Amino acid sequence: MQIVGRGASKKFYPGEIWKDNNGVHINAHGGGVINYNSTYYWFGEYKSDTTSSAMVGVTCYSSKNLVDWTNRGVALAVSDDESSDIAKGCILERPKVVYNKKTKKFVMWFHLELKGNGYSAARYGVAVSNNVAGPYKYIHSGRVNPNIYPINMIGKDTVDVNSHYTDMMALKWWTPEWYDAIKKGLFVKRDLASGQMARDQTVFVDEDGKAYHIYSSEDNLTLQIAELTDDYTAHTGKYARMAISEMNEAPAVFKRNGVYWMITSGCTGWAPNKARLFTANNIMGPWKQLPNPCIGKGADLTFGGQSTYVLNVNGEFIFMADVWRPEHPSDARYIWLPIEFKNDKPIIEWRDSWSLSDFNK
Ligand code: DGJ
Repeated sequence: MQIVGRGASKKFYPGEIWKDNNGVHINAHGGGVINYNSTYYWFGEYKSDTTSSAMVGVTCYSSKNLVDWTNRGVALAVSDDESSDIAKGCILERPKVVYNKKTKKFVMWFHLELKGNGYSAARYGVAVSNNVAGPYKYIHSGRVNPNIYPINMIGKDTVDVNSHYTDMMALKWWTPEWYDAIKKGLFVKRDLASGQMARDQTVFVDEDGKAYHIYSSEDNLTLQIAELTDDYTAHTGKYARMAISEMNEAPAVFKRNGVYWMITSGCTGWAPNKARLFTANNIMGPWKQLPNPCIGKGADLTFGGQSTYVLNVNGEFIFMADVWRPEHPSDARYIWLPIEFKNDKPIIEWRDSWSLSDFNK
């Protein structure tokens, strides 16, 4: 969708309070944006004033120009039924919505932690709707691809973890021997029967219509990329590991001129750290790491933010990040910055304000 005229010169103010049509700071954290019927829809976590747990659910806002947003209410509500997987008070993070052209349904994926169990469930969750803004109906949650090994854990590695599993599990964490066992897939094997852990996550729809779930797995040590079924509601069983044992969170994936890019963070809870950049010619890998895409002042801490999504706007890309405020979660801020390409590599530089028309300069 081409944004022209006055809409294109409207300004983003990264890190500032961002008011919706009601004059209230937008409450859609860890979010993502889709473009449907010439309108953008932003989905994110509703954060309360005092807790990061999900007391409301996933909110939706809509916009024609990406700067002025209308509150469309709660797209996926948490449940008052204590026995529900998405009971009020669960942890429901990083929702991403994709549109399935075949089924004409909107599919929401999110990271789900069962109420009262901290971050131990490490599940994905899926909800669907016939209408972009919702309401979405929760359909299922779980761990990824039980009883299936990843496509890039083969041969000697699989034999090693199978025949030395007990010894490997007894290794002291963070020792060179333990890292070696992790690289060989020790935790893949540990979680084989239950399915792979899925925490920070995103969903990417490729140009050929195939969709992929990308998530922090194996105790946040390793990212995995899992192919989704044609209706986007489940995994096919095909998945790969990447950045093995390197501890990445907050994956955001985009594609430009046939090349895949992924921006992630390290694992430091709600505190910011240095962004990481990966590239690949095939979504299943191999992925190669490049230097931090952020440059200039504040670059070493991603300007205080953590990646959540990269939005493609007519072939230009917007980096979206969250500035978390764990003491006052609803006051968390958004950093949206343009991605520039220099020598065919993405660069992100801080701007106090900017507009879509800057892309053409
Ligand atoms: C970092 C993750 O990226 C967030 O989504 C959230 O899970 C926090 N950790 C919790 O500490």
